[in-house]
Parts: sequence; C-alpha cells; structure tokens
Amino acid sequence: MKIPTPFAFDLLTPKRIIFGWGRRRELGDMIASLGTRCFIVLGSRTLSQHALFNSIQNSLEIAGITANTPEWISREPLVSDVDQAVQRAREWKADVVLGIGGGAALDLAKAVAALTPQVMHASVSDYLEGVGRELSLTKQPLPNLLMPTTAGTGSEATKNAVISSPQAQFKKSLRADSMLTDVALIDPELTVTAAPNVTLHSGMDALTQCLESYLSCRATVVTRTLALEGFRHAWTALPLVMQNPESRTARESMSYAALLSGIALANSGLGLAHGVAAALGIHAAIPHGLACAIMLPVALQVNLASSRDDLGELDAARADTNTGSAESLIEAIRTLSRNMGLPERLRDVAVRKEQLAVIATSSGGNSMRGNPREITDAELRDILHRAW
Ligand SMILES: [Fe+2]
Repeated sequence: MKIPTPFAFDLLTPKRIIFGWGRRRELGDMIASLGTRCFIVLGSRTLSQHALFNSIQNSLEIAGITANTPEWISREPLVSDVDQAVQRAREWKADVVLGIGGGAALDLAKAVAALTPQVMHASVSDYLEGVGRELSLTKQPLPNLLMPTTAGTGSEATKNAVISSPQAQFKKSLRADSMLTDVALIDPELTVTAAPNVTLHSGMDALTQCLESYLSCRATVVTRTLALEGFRHAWTALPLVMQNPESRTARESMSYAALLSGIALANSGLGLAHGVAAALGIHAAIPHGLACAIMLPVALQVNLASSRDDLGELDAARADTNTGSAESLIEAIRTLSRNMGLPERLRDVAVRKEQLAVIATSSGGNSMRGNPREITDAELRDILHRAW
C-alpha cells in the first residue's frame, strides 16, 4: 500500500468501541457508567414494540437507569426533528443519550447530545456548516452511547450529524470533534432483522465510504489501512448477506466494515459519490445508500486517471481477482450492483433531467473536498448528464 506523505496523522475515534455478537446485553452497565437519566432515540416506532427493545429496557432498569418514552425517527433528521427532541431532552433533564437504529437515529442522538447542554438556546440550523450563524458548541455534549441496527453509515464512529431542511433545500452537518461518542456498542446480531433493501443500501454506503476514504486526498496511512480492511470485508460479505440474511459471519463482516468506514471517513473525508448523494437526497429524495450505489462507479471512472494506482491496489485486495487493475475494479463494482438488482442510472430512480442543474449546484459541501482531484462546476454538470 502506498503511504501518503507526509507520514503523519491525527486519528479521532469514539472513546470506547464494543463490538461483538450479542454484546447489546452489556448496554445497561455501559449506560450506568455515563449517567442516570437516559434520553433514548430510536430508529422507528416499531422498534419500540419489538422484543429486542423490551430486553434493552429491562437491562436499563436492572442497571438503575430512568429512561424516557423513546423519541423515534424513521427518516433522515430534519431541523424541526432536532429542535423538538432537544427541547424534550432539556425538559426531561437528561444526563445521558442513547441512540439505537440506523444512521438517521444515531445522527439525531448525536445532535441531541451535542445541543442539549448548550447555553445558547438556538435552533440546530444556527450551528450547521455553511448555514446561518455557524455557532460553535461551547459546552461538552452530554455523554452518549450509540448502537447501530444497520451496517452502513458508520455514524457510530463519526463526529457529525447530517441534518436536512426540505424548505431551505439543504442537507448539512452539525460537526465537532467533541461529538465523537463515548461508547459505540456494535452488536451485529441487531442487523439480522433489517429489511433486504435496508441491508443492501446501507451495505453499498459502507462499501462506497471505504473506497472514497481510501482514495481521498486527505487520506492518511491509518485511514487507508482501515478503509482497505473494511473494503475487503464488505466486498466478500455483502453478496453473502443478501443471499443468506441470517449468516452470522457475513453480518459480522458487514458491521465491522461499516465501523471501519466510519472511522476512516471521519478522519479523511469522502469524495464525489458522497457529494452528489447528499444533493440527490435533498432534491430527489433518493435514499443515501442507493444514491451512493448509483454514483460509486461514476465517481471511480471520473477519478480513474488520477487514482489509477490506488484503484489497482483496491482491486488486488478483492478475494475474487488476480488482476490488480483500476478498470477491473470499476467493472466488478458495476457487475456487483447489477447482480444485486440495483439501478444504474439517475433516470432509473426518477430523477428528472431538468433537476440535474440544481443537483450539480448543491453537490459541493464537505464530502466533495476529499475527492482525489478538483472537479469544476461545468465538469460536474457533464458528469451528472452522463450518469442520467
Ligand atoms: Fe455514506
């Protein structure tokens, strides 16, 4: 593996990472080490009626924790979702926050933990990057624990929460180093009951995150090592988990890949596919992982000339290749997507041609800054037309 120069890095990670099949049973004790009044954010209302959630409530009770009636969220959080949840967490005098669910629930939990203690009672939109007043967090976030139920976003290991506003047409991050969680508790068994399209889309998100953070112009030797390891696991496990959703080894590999992709991206940034995916979410309501799946081969093709050696290294890491070529990797990703029934073009997911201009305009943002080479606005419009 080529080592980026200079050979120097910072590495920000959760304070503690607990990983393993069935380890959700350690939740009560871990929460008790962080606080006594626990504000719970769940990924869906149905999760609160699930036997799994009963066992979680029992473990909190045994550990002497008082918990709220959980907040639930089944979409990527909006400004209003965050503001309301922060208000309730303050009224409820929460001293610890627990997020259980996919990336949306974990992002909402992170935002609530970050904003609840702030002295300035402003809307989350005042704290977002590139929106409004861009206030800074002056108080430490509430202690928090994140427990993912999908294998994809890596949100349990990142320092930002993605917040959208359909009215103002943005999807921006609340971001601070202090938002890295106290405990990421990853129990791959929790992902077994995810719906097939959730498993597929979140798996493609993890795969895209591994590849984009590996190629990022801000990658370091350690983020590359993590991204490559995550890519190896996701590449082999994703087809297996789609064939056999109950495969323990495949689920473990996917959760591991998602975690590594989150640590890598939090420290290296991403690239073109994620830059465009955010805009596709806002303007065409395309789910994040699906948008990543469509844009991944496009982004790799665009970066082919500047990242040929890196793409070759990634190709050589696949268990099912002996070529080590950039073209072979891109073709293999197209084949993987096709075999799993994913759409290939933007028109296949109901993006209208006249939307491409606004999608291009709002595709910038933090994600795009990691792209291995600069992309002009005119080139981006051209890329989107070709992907349509
Ligand atoms: Fe992502």
